[in-house]
Amino acid sequence: MIENGNLATLRGVRAVCCTRRFLEPHACTWRPRFALAHAPRPETSAPGRPGCSEGRSGNTKGVGVSGNQSIPAQVIIDAFHQLYYDSLDSWRQNTYLGYPILQCPLDMQLYQELVARLRPSFILQTGVFAGGSVLYFACLLDLIDAEPDALVIGVDLHLSPQAKTLRHPRLRLVEGNSTDAATIDRIKTVLPRPQGMVSLDSNHSRGHVAEELRLYREFVAIDSYLVVEDTNINGHPVFSDFGPGPHEAVEAFLRVDRRFVRDNDLWERNLFSFHQYGWLKRVAE
Ligand SMILES: C[S@@+](CC[C@H](N)C(=O)[O-])C[C@H]1O[C@@H](n2cnc3c(N)ncnc32)[C@H](O)[C@@H]1O
Repeated sequence: MIENGNLATLRGVRAVCCTRRFLEPHACTWRPRFALAHAPRPETSAPGRPGCSEGRSGNTKGVGVSGNQSIPAQVIIDAFHQLYYDSLDSWRQNTYLGYPILQCPLDMQLYQELVARLRPSFILQTGVFAGGSVLYFACLLDLIDAEPDALVIGVDLHLSPQAKTLRHPRLRLVEGNSTDAATIDRIKTVLPRPQGMVSLDSNHSRGHVAEELRLYREFVAIDSYLVVEDTNINGHPVFSDFGPGPHEAVEAFLRVDRRFVRDNDLWERNLFSFHQYGWLKRVAE
């Protein structure tokens, strides 16, 4: 049971912090702060998803509050999403086998399902940071007893000292701008097969993600996935003042490349995803 006042407080929690520092650690040097503020009581109709042409209309299931009032479940989902995302003590502190991993555990669960189901010949991720995700992917390949030549390729503008300590036989790290022709050429030299699974998690500006989508889509096998991470930013529903980012890049991409479709069923059962509306499946050559 959620009381009206508590929910209003929940909605009002805002981290006055530099989330960009976590999204693009090399692009930002100032330190985050955390503050609480009270916001107005949420509206009681299900909020739409601005800029999301294909998205769900909102979970309209009502949740009892007090008396005969009810609050649409989507309001609560977005409020929790915002609270969890803004907290400096939640996902930002996550590690995988000791390596920081900037992921929501719900999304790690989805990656695990995809890897087990698709058995990709490689997983290519742009944006390595401290290496937790690429190590996680490499261990998943081990756990499914993947072919010995199945690899994880991590690409980062500047490989961090921590990432450089990673030792895993399936892991290959490439340093460079993910959209430079020289970087793409180096990636091609290490890929065990032409196509596998791709995750984009580097610079989150719309322009950069759009360019990555253009360049990396050909690395995605049919029935496999092109995961555009952090589609939740720029108000979808978190980090409202980021500016056009992954979500907007995906919208434009799907309008011109019909070989890819959103797989919203994948994440909607978990109610939210940091990459919601960004789990793209390749359905045609
Ligand atoms: C959000 S972090 C990656 C987090 C990591 N994937 C994880 O799950 O823990 C973004 C990373 O992208 C890198 N990056 C930023 N711009 C880039 C670019 N143009 N090309 C390649 N990497 C870039 C940054 O250096 C940073 O390490």
